[in-house]
Amino acid sequence: MASAALRPLRLCWALGPLCLCCALRPAAAATNILLLLMDDMGWGDLGAFGEPSKETPNLDQMAAEGMLFLDFYTASPLCSPSYTPQDIVGGIPDSELLLPELLKKAGYTNKIIGKWHLGHRPQFHPLKHGFHEWFGSPNCHFGPYDNRERPNIPVYRDWEMVGRYYEDFKIDLKTGEANLTQLYLQEALDFISKQQASQKPFFLYWAIDATHAPVYASKQFLGTSQRGLYGDAVREIDDSVGKILKHLQQLGISENTFVFFTSDNGAALISAPKQGGSNGPFLCGKQTTFEGGMREPAIAWWPGHIPAGGVSHQLGSVMDLFSTSLSLAGLQPPSDRQIDGIDLLPVMLQGKLIDRPIFYYRGNELMAVRAGLYKAHFWTWSNSWEEQSKGIDFCPGQSVAGVTTHTQEEHTCLPLLFHLGRDPGEKYPISFASEEYQRAVERVSALVQQHKATLVPGQPQLNVCDQAVMDNSTVTTPNRQIAAFGDQK
Ligand SMILES: *[C@@H]1O[C@H](CO)[C@@H](O)[C@H](O)[C@H]1NC(C)=O
Ligand SMILES: *[C@@H]1O[C@H](CO)[C@@H](O)[C@H](O)[C@H]1NC(C)=O
Repeated sequence: MASAALRPLRLCWALGPLCLCCALRPAAAATNILLLLMDDMGWGDLGAFGEPSKETPNLDQMAAEGMLFLDFYTASPLCSPSYTPQDIVGGIPDSELLLPELLKKAGYTNKIIGKWHLGHRPQFHPLKHGFHEWFGSPNCHFGPYDNRERPNIPVYRDWEMVGRYYEDFKIDLKTGEANLTQLYLQEALDFISKQQASQKPFFLYWAIDATHAPVYASKQFLGTSQRGLYGDAVREIDDSVGKILKHLQQLGISENTFVFFTSDNGAALISAPKQGGSNGPFLCGKQTTFEGGMREPAIAWWPGHIPAGGVSHQLGSVMDLFSTSLSLAGLQPPSDRQIDGIDLLPVMLQGKLIDRPIFYYRGNELMAVRAGLYKAHFWTWSNSWEEQSKGIDFCPGQSVAGVTTHTQEEHTCLPLLFHLGRDPGEKYPISFASEEYQRAVERVSALVQQHKATLVPGQPQLNVCDQAVMDNSTVTTPNRQIAAFGDQK
């Protein structure tokens, strides 16, 4: 609240004797922040983004009342930013400053509902990283495992393990029925009501996973979509988001609550069409650095502040939600480190466009860069031949010669260049000999140099290929995962 607290002082300076009344006026209530993060939902899954069966009336309405971001990206084509099986012992290091840690200092109450995915050792618990409350799981609802070597994934309420997926929180893999989205919805509505009653600002991170395979929906939504079970899951999420927004309106706090909807990576085409979504016109899906792997559906909603019906071509990133949320809370980003995100409030409130690149990483490798409408690939790779032969395909039905390669092809000396305006599907590389190519690649090279100059590599935490972060005791201590986070229960 630094800037809000300073504002009355500046007024005092200007108004002199009138000072008392403005000093007595309470500062405007801090803006609540609600981040709705979907799991494996694709750019093409919402009606507002052109999904042909138009089954997301509430999200489409949210977009009509707020701002649609068409060029919004995730930081990695995988969740977490990596898949964390139970035997991983790494997690979010204490040295990382998380958004809730900073918001806490500004008086926010922070809750995470759903998937944490940043480590399941005691030191990684979300309540040790700035959250006050949690209902959800440290992992995806994979399973059922149902054995002692690999127990089912636990579900937590704050510090307490309250049960496990499949055993206590049922997911019927035959019918696709599960009530989890309803539980996560109710949890959100209750938290919002409680915060409104206590007049304290809140940060709610709603990271639900119904659209991650195995996808699920509750009975009232099963069989209601033209798209099958995946569509049923989307429809239930759409309905839930509608109920959350209506709840904010009914409590009279919608103008005081910033809501942002997006997804963690592109649709998992490997699971499509029955268990995976759509990336619209884009190439490939989750796991890849083609547009389908990293471009996300994104909607900002803040009635009375963000003008209705906005459509922005701002190149945005999930990392911007950090800086934007701090800005909403009147806080500055930490100055002791390089921050990759930017504050999107000038984009949303004044329609500004901020020139900035997007970097596409796969693992540690900088695969591609987007600058304006140009995207340069330094490496191309879809999947390995070995995976392909087993039917593990991240680009089903989408082979583009020389682009969706099955070996890791290096193009660092002569990047493959696409114009995403004329060619959103990355099908027509721009001729190396053209002047357009020369100009664009020069610009991209300068951006990469700048980026690399300030890059500080992190310690690997969640890399399954790195023995240092894997639990070697799989066979010898079969009960190691009876509860995550140690022995609380
Ligand atoms: C979902 O909740 C309903 C109503 O309580 C119950 O009848 C049903 O068995 C639950 N389904 C699952 C899969 O847990
Ligand atoms: C697992 O074993 C590898 C190789 O012996 C070792 O380098 C690593 O530190 C071990 N990991 C843990 C978490 O103990």
